[in-house]
Amino acid sequence: MSDDLTLLRDETLSALTAATDLKGWDAVRVAALGRNGRLTQLLKGLGGVAPEARKERGAALNRLKAELEAVLEARRGELDAAALDARLANERVDITLPPRPEPRGSIHPISRTMEEIAAIFGAMGFGLAEGPDIEDDWMNFGALNIPAHHPARQDMDTFYMPGERGGRRLVLRTHTSPVQARTMLSEAPPIRKICMGRTYRADHDATHSPMFHQCEGLAIDRAIHLGHLKGCVVDFLRSFFGIASLPVRFRSSYFPFTEPSMEVDIGWNRKTGELGAGGDWLEIMGSGMVHPKVLANCGIDPRDWQGFAFGMGIERIAMLKLGIPDLRPFYDADLRWLGHYGFSPLAPAMLHEGLASGGGAA
Ligand code: DAH
Repeated sequence: MSDDLTLLRDETLSALTAATDLKGWDAVRVAALGRNGRLTQLLKGLGGVAPEARKERGAALNRLKAELEAVLEARRGELDAAALDARLANERVDITLPPRPEPRGSIHPISRTMEEIAAIFGAMGFGLAEGPDIEDDWMNFGALNIPAHHPARQDMDTFYMPGERGGRRLVLRTHTSPVQARTMLSEAPPIRKICMGRTYRADHDATHSPMFHQCEGLAIDRAIHLGHLKGCVVDFLRSFFGIASLPVRFRSSYFPFTEPSMEVDIGWNRKTGELGAGGDWLEIMGSGMVHPKVLANCGIDPRDWQGFAFGMGIERIAMLKLGIPDLRPFYDADLRWLGHYGFSPLAPAMLHEGLASGGGAA
């Protein structure tokens, strides 16, 4: 190779080694092989070379061109790989770092309580049922053996709605019990369902809200008896409150839709508010064996089937468990209150495994 070609080769190769990015690489390529590059110029000048030297000179130029192209190509591959490595290192995301800003939302204590109720009854074999907030008065009252003019209709301070459905007056459901009726009308027994949702009564003071939440339970089978009801309810309450020895008392009562009916009380200390000890009793839910008339109203033959039902206020048990003193802030959407009483979406469930032993339902 003539000296000028050796020089061009050496200079190009060392410039290429010195190029650390694609921009530098391209400058080297253009300087040698671009339209006005040094090698291109030499090839263009081949016509001026003496004819006897032209062939050899041409061959040398072409060899150098092929060599430089190959070296450029290889260097390009190295720089591409280095650029990719740098990007991967640069854009690496450590997914174990906590998110910024810290998440501010939290799970509302009502939602959290409903999740826990569903988990405990779920472990006992109860599924979830749903019904509409706007009911007709037959579902809300009639099917449940609460005839027109029955005092319970006044007791519940019903919100009547304008309009009617199939000749029946529309109401905001005053309890979740109409979902019992809907479930029996739409499903063949055996049935094990709970329903949780909003309920409405025209009542508003420190301990009552016109909208609140209830949980309803229903179990229908051929041989369900009061012992099953008691087992289920006791297991639920002990599991929910996390107190294995929580005293539970069943007190004879009256509901139109159950016979016999029982109010359920748990043991607590009225002075300190502590649950589980103290010798006082706190009413917590209503329950009973589903009235034969209710079964018949909902298309289930009471000679073949029987069952139990219960109903409770979700705010009430949430307040007791979580030590929340006032009902009204539940619905204020106050971020400070939610920050204090809300739950992290990632917090482990406060379930007391092993307490929900499978319930009393056969
Ligand atoms: N529906 C009743 C209420 O709102 C609660 C209740 C009591 C539901 C007894 C039941 C039950 O299923 O058996 O006060």
